Amino acid sequence: SNRTLLVLPGDGIGPEVMNEVRKVIAWMGKKRAVGFDIKEDAVGGAALDKHGLPVSDDTVKAALEADAVLFGSVGGPKWDTLPFEKKPERGLLRLRKEMDLFANLRPAKVFDALVDASTLKPEIVKGLDIMIIRELTSGVYFGEPRGIKTLPNGEREGVDTQRYTSGEIRRVCAVAFELARKRQNKVCSAEKANVMHTGVLWRDEATKLHKESYGDVQLSHMYADALAMQLLRWPHQFDVIVTDNLFGDILSDEASMLTGSLGMLPSASLGAPDATGRRKALYEPIHGSAPDIAGKGIANPLAETMSYAMMLRYSFDLSSEADLVERAVENVLAAGYRTADLLTGGLDDKAAAAKGLKKVGT
Ligand code: NAI
Ligand code: MG
Repeated sequence: SNRTLLVLPGDGIGPEVMNEVRKVIAWMGKKRAVGFDIKEDAVGGAALDKHGLPVSDDTVKAALEADAVLFGSVGGPKWDTLPFEKKPERGLLRLRKEMDLFANLRPAKVFDALVDASTLKPEIVKGLDIMIIRELTSGVYFGEPRGIKTLPNGEREGVDTQRYTSGEIRRVCAVAFELARKRQNKVCSAEKANVMHTGVLWRDEATKLHKESYGDVQLSHMYADALAMQLLRWPHQFDVIVTDNLFGDILSDEASMLTGSLGMLPSASLGAPDATGRRKALYEPIHGSAPDIAGKGIANPLAETMSYAMMLRYSFDLSSEADLVERAVENVLAAGYRTADLLTGGLDDKAAAAKGLKKVGT
């Protein structure tokens, strides 16, 4: 095969959920002739144990060369006492940075079988399928100056700087417009142009880019705080939402709770297209390494499975195969199979069985 894939299972439940996805990958190879040249490597705590670094230079090189990276999760109590710069999580941050993965796609999709796992009323979330795109490599988490210093009067001062260039705004908005064309053709851009200069620039650049190249897509603007409210009031009004790093962090966490369990949420992080249109990309579940359940064989593998489906869709243009994987997830849930994280709300094993739900995992 000429498709190259780097698999980085990581720590905790990362390798467990990846093992389940391997079965789907093998099925795709056999039944659909969708094969990959797969390289596999350690990352996070596993890499610290192996090379003394949370990600080795060789692994970074392999990630830059691969068509796509499929990532599990990193971290765990074993490495928690290490200094910040040496923690397993730094491995993921270094990969994001070196691959320049500026567009973080976080779908929030509600499966019919899981409507009652949401914290919101069924009629508000039923059938929900929205996509939040968060700018991932700039903004207030990176802008200079930043830091904490002591002032002459003895007080301490903390500084973070929100900074965006027009190019940074345009490239993430372009991802949003292009994605919208394959969905409901609707983009809502969120900022705070009422009180922030970066917000004014964001709205300006989104509007300009829309006029230049994406006039066929419906574009609206909303202040990020109003959007936070609208997400809970009537989330169906949205299709694609595009926003900056900080607002995207908060809004995507909020949106994730519309859907139920952390174990259900995939993500994609995309870089800029090269001359051939190929984008660097990393796919990972939103959840972490879940040390509290690691090694018990009860982790929900669906977030990793759907991250693989996103990879098929966005890195390899295999939409019908991606649909197939997503439909399989839907079918498994409709048939009543549930990992423990989906049996919350006071459902013990007996009550779950009475509802026709079948607990899976050891
Ligand atoms: P977490 O996402 O690992 O776990 C939060 C809660 O959700 C836990 O109770 C866990 O059991 C449950 N959970 C998560 N994924 C699940 C799944 N697939 N199936 C069933 N239950 C699931 O977040 P937490 O506990 O804050 O962090 C644990 C470690 O993971 C830390 O070292 C943290 O730094 C790291 N982390 C790594 C991330 C990554 O690799 N991208 C992201 C978030 C945290
Ligand atoms: Mg967050």
